[in-house]
Amino acid sequence: MYGEIVIVDDVPGEFAERVIEAFHRRPNDGFSFALSGGETARHCYERLADDAGNQIDWWKVDVYWGDERCVPLDDVDSNYRLGREALLERLGAVNANYPMRCDDGPDPYQLRLGQLGRLDVVHLGLGPDGHTASLFPDSPALDADPGRLVVMNEDPSGRNKHKRMTLTFAGIARARLVLVTVCGEEKREVMARVAAGENLPACRIQADQVLWLVDTDAAADIS
Ligand code: 6PG
Repeated sequence: MYGEIVIVDDVPGEFAERVIEAFHRRPNDGFSFALSGGETARHCYERLADDAGNQIDWWKVDVYWGDERCVPLDDVDSNYRLGREALLERLGAVNANYPMRCDDGPDPYQLRLGQLGRLDVVHLGLGPDGHTASLFPDSPALDADPGRLVVMNEDPSGRNKHKRMTLTFAGIARARLVLVTVCGEEKREVMARVAAGENLPACRIQADQVLWLVDTDAAADIS
């Protein structure tokens, strides 16, 4: 695996602090932030909305998504809806937000990210099977053309439902900072496998800086 593992009791709190720090050290006036899906992400965004207060000028923040399930954007399984409920609606407003729209295919998002160049922060999770974003084991997106930043994908095992749109590893590598958040006993085994450098999708996350924010339960078997 690539990056630094930071073991903490309070992952959502640490996450909020790291995003606030990244906002203050951003190289440009604007700040681009790609959201994740999953329940850990929901807790992180609720906390960020509470903790950031006026430490982040949200009018300077453009919100993107790292992956999406191909369901309507108001569906309970939509990562856009999760981000809207757990963060955007609690903030009132951000400068702009860019949902991934599966019906449009990946090219409009590819174009937008290509024009943007770099993402200041990309937030990722870790699935029990070692997936991150919607980059599942043995799935086609793992071997996407290096020029592709965004592609469609599916989980060949069927464990993770819905067709997906997802950043590729090349898309993730456009980040100045990747924050991977991992919580709970149910992630203990996979986190130990990632730390041991097994051939899992999450082990291929690379960017300028990658921080794994892991709680003590999930980190218990890391040797
Ligand atoms: C998704 C996510 C996915 C998620 C992990 C962890 O759309 O499902 O982007 O990569 O981050 O599965 O999810 P939990 O925090 O719910 O375990």
